[in-house]
Amino acid sequence: MTSIAFTVNARPVEVAADGDTPLLDALRNHLGLTGTRFGCGLEQCGSCMVLIDGAPEKSCGKTLSAVAGKSVTTIEGLGTPSDPHPLQRAFIDLQAGQCGYCLPGILISATALLDRNPAPTRAEIAAALDDNICRCGSHHRILRAVARAAARMGEETRP
Ligand code: FES
Ligand code: FES
Repeated sequence: MTSIAFTVNARPVEVAADGDTPLLDALRNHLGLTGTRFGCGLEQCGSCMVLIDGAPEKSCGKTLSAVAGKSVTTIEGLGTPSDPHPLQRAFIDLQAGQCGYCLPGILISATALLDRNPAPTRAEIAAALDDNICRCGSHHRILRAVARAAARMGEETRP
C-alpha cells in the first residue's frame, strides 16, 4: 500500500492503495467519482475513458502509479447540470443516448477530439470514437450530437 498524489478535475487528490490498483477502481471506489463506468475491464469497450494530461485513456487499463503527478479529467469535470459542456448540451438536445451507459466514455473521447480538432468531419468523429462501443446502437445520433457541439462551439468562438 502506498499513497499516490495526482489531480482529478483540477483538484489535488491523494489515494492510499496498491500502486497497481486500476485507475478506474481508484476513481470509483476511493474518490466516489462513479460517472466513469466499468464495462468490460479489458480495455475493449471505452466506457471507462478519462483524459490523462489531455489524452483519452481507458482507466481500466491504467494503474494508479501510472498517473502519479498527472492530471486526470473525468466526466464529472466536463460540466455541471446548470452549466453543461457544449457536448453535453448537444447530447441532451438530440437525445443522443439510449441507456446512457456508454456516454461518459464517449463524451470524454469527443472532448479530446474537439480539443485537437474543433471542426471535425463525420469520418473524423467516427474515427475518434472507434474505441467506444455503444451497445444500444445509438451511433448515428451520437455522431450528429458531436457535430452539433462542434458547430455550436465554432459559432460561440467566432467574433
Ligand atoms: S471498462 Fe475499460 S475499456 Fe471497457
Ligand atoms: S446508449 Fe446504451 S450503450 Fe450507448
